Amino acid sequence: MNSEKIVVYPGTFDPITNGHLDILRRGIDLFDRIVICIAANPAKAPMFPAAERLEMIQEALKEKGLNGQVKVETFDGLIVDYAQELGAIALIRGLRAVSDFEYEFQMALMNRHLNSHLHTVYLMPKDEYTYLSSSIIKNVARHGGDIKRFVPAGVERRLIAKYNNPEVE
Ligand code: COA
Repeated sequence: MNSEKIVVYPGTFDPITNGHLDILRRGIDLFDRIVICIAANPAKAPMFPAAERLEMIQEALKEKGLNGQVKVETFDGLIVDYAQELGAIALIRGLRAVSDFEYEFQMALMNRHLNSHLHTVYLMPKDEYTYLSSSIIKNVARHGGDIKRFVPAGVERRLIAKYNNPEVE
């Protein structure tokens, strides 16, 4: 029996932030293998195409020296099916504030209904990332604010390039 503990970190990652990377590091401490899964949330219209989000994550992992430990993939389907294909034991998610709770609770219970063997593990990011989200980063970048502390260098570069190009909006 394979006892390697594989977990999936799913999300939209539009774009990845240092808060996501903080969760990832905590996951690395706990599990043998982590696969980041860029999945679709039908309620969102991402700014970056999935292939570019994947590229940004790969760059960030390289920048932080985590590329040997973490794999990134995109998947269009139910996250429980993806996790099962991979032989994952759990999904990991970040829990930032009480406001995340209801949505996360709903998703965790639905995923458990779909696959009762798959756990969801919640990890809390460093307090300085508690109020971070991809939307707030895009909003600050749109107005030329400094986002350096909150995102990997490649993400900052791409956001600046996007907002300097009037065709983006
Ligand atoms: N640091 C910074 N920001 C964080 C964060 C952290 N540690 N953790 C979450 N966030 C932010 C994200 O940036 C995102 O911000 P945004 O809303 O401004 O874009 C927000 O919190 C939550 O996004 P994310 O973690 O990417 O989750 P999501 O709600 O977009 O993703 C999926 C949900 C993709 C995991 C879910 O829709 C899914 O599993 N889809 C696949 C299909 C499926 O199985 N559906 C049934 C699910 S029950």
